[in-house]
Amino acid sequence: MGLALAAGEVAPTIAAPARRRVPFGGAIQAEHFDVDPEYRKAFLTYCDLIMPMNELKFDLLRPSPDVFSFEPADRIVDFALSHGKGSRGHCFLWWGGTPDWVKAITDPKRLEAVLIEHIETVADHYAGRLTSWDVVNEVIANDPPQEGALRDTHWLRVLGPRHIPLAFLTAAKADPKARLVINDYDLEYVGPRCDARRATMLAMVRQLKDAGVPVHAVGMQGHLYADLQIDHDAIAAFGAALKAIDVGLIVSELDIIDWHIEGGPAEQDAAAGKAVNALLDAVFAGQQPEAVIAWGLTDRYSWVGGAMPRPDGTPVRPLPLDEHYRRKAWFGPLLDRLKHGR
Ligand code: G3I
Repeated sequence: MGLALAAGEVAPTIAAPARRRVPFGGAIQAEHFDVDPEYRKAFLTYCDLIMPMNELKFDLLRPSPDVFSFEPADRIVDFALSHGKGSRGHCFLWWGGTPDWVKAITDPKRLEAVLIEHIETVADHYAGRLTSWDVVNEVIANDPPQEGALRDTHWLRVLGPRHIPLAFLTAAKADPKARLVINDYDLEYVGPRCDARRATMLAMVRQLKDAGVPVHAVGMQGHLYADLQIDHDAIAAFGAALKAIDVGLIVSELDIIDWHIEGGPAEQDAAAGKAVNALLDAVFAGQQPEAVIAWGLTDRYSWVGGAMPRPDGTPVRPLPLDEHYRRKAWFGPLLDRLKHGR
């Protein structure tokens, strides 16, 4: 990625220097990347950073203990870097991407060895090409007031909370220059559940930092429910609190969930633009984000329609480009805000 770093220096931000003050990134899917030239072209046209959406997840990367399927992610990372773009890794540990063979391991010593071996092998493979990783993804309980601080995952059940610092310390040892991120969702809205999730994240990051664990940034996923209210003041305070302890903030998986927006494309896109602007207003009020990364670029390929379809059956419109690669009205203003860093 061209970031010449001195020995011991951690990448100062997650993306290569870009033509924008705040790099715009996109998560790309190998199955479409391999066959759709217009898809590839869209990422080159708009993105400063291009990252594998799924290909570095434990389940896809390591279907069995002795198999590391690096090829799909390598194609994407090489494509990004060969075109002067940045790239980043998602993710070492995630409850949603843990293969069955790992879930079958209940011996703590064995699972710890698997965790260390996996992170060491993968971080080493991409050292110098990926300068940022989502080390752990979605470790906070979905609803902390009801469930306690941490999500009930296989890693937590077998290893306890220590699996989180262990993952970060292992990643830092394997790739000392990588910028290490803790990534999670539903940090964006008004309400006691999101208040609790933000507070839990902040407390965890502070605790890790106080213990000397290298956490460099928080990923705020930004899967925006267009019918929910962005909590401007809370996000601004959250970003400022992270900045105060030298921790960055990334909007890491931006897309719009418009299943409860009535009307058609015009209403959906208007709601999307409003939500994106409200999020950026709040994030910039706390600190300048290190990057804003969309979770895909085109409505033609998005997880949203399958997971949260519109009740009337009309197509969802989650991403900056429609299914024909035409820009949504809100995409230009988004890129302009990132160009000027405000
Ligand atoms: O690659 C296999 C293919 O070989 C197989 O034939 C096919 C059918 O089973 O599955 C393919 O894997 C799919 C993968 O996407 C790649 O397309 C998985 O089944 C499918 O579950 C997976 O969905 C992804 C999901 O995470 C689970 O990993 C979505 O595309 C992706 O957008 C979504 O992203 C997550 C973030 O990682 C974390 N934050 C939430 C976000 C949305 O759920």
